[in-house]
Amino acid sequence: MSKKSSQEMIAVLDFGSQYNQLIARRVRENQVYCRLLPFDTTPSELLSLNPKGIILSGGPASLAERGVPLPHRGIFNLGIPILGICYGMQLLGHFMGGRITSTPKREDGKSKLFVDNGEDLFYGLGASLDVWMSHGDKITKVPPGFEVIAHTQDCPAASMRNKSEKLYGVQFHPEVAHTSQGKEIMRNFFFRICGCSGQWTMNSFIDYSLEEIRKKVGKGKVVCALSGGVDSSVTAALVNKAIGQRLGCVFVNHGLLREGEADEVRRTFAEHFHFNLHYVQVRNRFLNRLAGVTDPEKKRKIIGEEFIRVFTEEARKFGQVDFLAQGTLYPDVIESRSAKGGSSAVIKSHHNVGGLPKDMHFKLLEPLRDLFKDEVRILGRELGLPEAIMKRQPFPGPGLAVRIVGEVTRERLRILRQADLRVMEEMRKYGKFSEIWQSFAVLLPIKSVGVMGDERTYEYTIALRIVTSVDAMTADWAKIPYQILEKISNRIINEVKGVNRVVYDISSKPPSTIEWEW
Ligand code: XMP
Repeated sequence: MSKKSSQEMIAVLDFGSQYNQLIARRVRENQVYCRLLPFDTTPSELLSLNPKGIILSGGPASLAERGVPLPHRGIFNLGIPILGICYGMQLLGHFMGGRITSTPKREDGKSKLFVDNGEDLFYGLGASLDVWMSHGDKITKVPPGFEVIAHTQDCPAASMRNKSEKLYGVQFHPEVAHTSQGKEIMRNFFFRICGCSGQWTMNSFIDYSLEEIRKKVGKGKVVCALSGGVDSSVTAALVNKAIGQRLGCVFVNHGLLREGEADEVRRTFAEHFHFNLHYVQVRNRFLNRLAGVTDPEKKRKIIGEEFIRVFTEEARKFGQVDFLAQGTLYPDVIESRSAKGGSSAVIKSHHNVGGLPKDMHFKLLEPLRDLFKDEVRILGRELGLPEAIMKRQPFPGPGLAVRIVGEVTRERLRILRQADLRVMEEMRKYGKFSEIWQSFAVLLPIKSVGVMGDERTYEYTIALRIVTSVDAMTADWAKIPYQILEKISNRIINEVKGVNRVVYDISSKPPSTIEWEW
């Protein structure tokens, strides 16, 4: 990233709103880089990041209570434009000397906003618009130097500004889709008020990342567990571009992968990209350890332990390695110190390589930790990764083992892999990649009676799991056309030996999970 574009950053201070990631999205959609930072980020930390503007997010707290999250007073004196959203606006009112009143009557849902001054924040938006409100407290007296620039029937100060200090507040949520012209309001803040030029692109991110990786790694070596999934593939491609053969990738074929997967990964990364790839085929090791194990947690534990063992053995072959590269994404990193106080920097660890032996103290290299999943896909395409990999659905580390309910055997793996291939093929024909989050087969340990020709059969049941989701935190079963389900079912029953029944899983998450075993 050039010096100029690295300055094009908006800092969002996180006061715990459920919409915070949406704010970050809105910023980046406008080709302006954005970081979500803890609410108590100090003025000097902020200055070191050189943001063009600061957004104070909403949050569940009320200024009428004690011990609520407050920003450092000094951030209001940095001369950097600020936009306070909801609780963020109340903070602005509070610190600048206005009056906040708690009202028993909450305002939740759509409201009509009347624009009193369309000069900057509401430029080009007309006299009134629909906005999304969600608040109990409100500003009943704007601070000295501020003026009201929009109101609703219930909220006389729905937006305020101090034009000369470039301090702005909105009581409603411009980041949510229900605020009809929210995107324009945010754009006005970025471009009219903060003076951003909107030049942040994936290419500038690549330049910046390559520089950062080289700086961080120096002459050192990096190892990466390549699974062939989107995140680890893009991580490896980026690090490889930065330091070439000093990145060693380990691909563990534990025998629990989908049909064709291992070959595809090997072809792509070793033959096409000429990565320093260590491919290890250790199917028997995993299957032997899984023999007779039916408890889902035990299965996962065994796979996790064995994976670390194999990975460690291979990584040692690279000699002295200083860094472990991981595909941690932005949503995996909850950067905020919890809005209720206390530090809660939490990293979801399920797809990271945890539990390495104590003598292997790698430093972490996480070049994707500022990106959302769809941005990672864009990045992967810019780096030249093939569509077959970029369109991959998420696939759990323990692989098909968590999709075989009960014991994992060679025969059951064969059945599941063949059934899953049919699901993949038919879903690929159906398309709708962007709508379907995951679609796969699960092998149930239930046998039931069927007839094939004149013969009675007594075979396994396959459950189809096809879900839509945005982030896997919640998911809905997909309303797939019956013809597609029929095609998948027919193909599995006719073509996969050992299956005579296919059922469709119509449960949502929560209370169910996406995978059948955890
Ligand atoms: P659940 O089953 O919890 O899954 O609804 C949520 C998402 O996480 C994936 N998943 C995993 N990914 N290692 C992974 O890398 C795992 O052990 C694991 N378990 C579940 C799952 O496929 C879904 O996308």
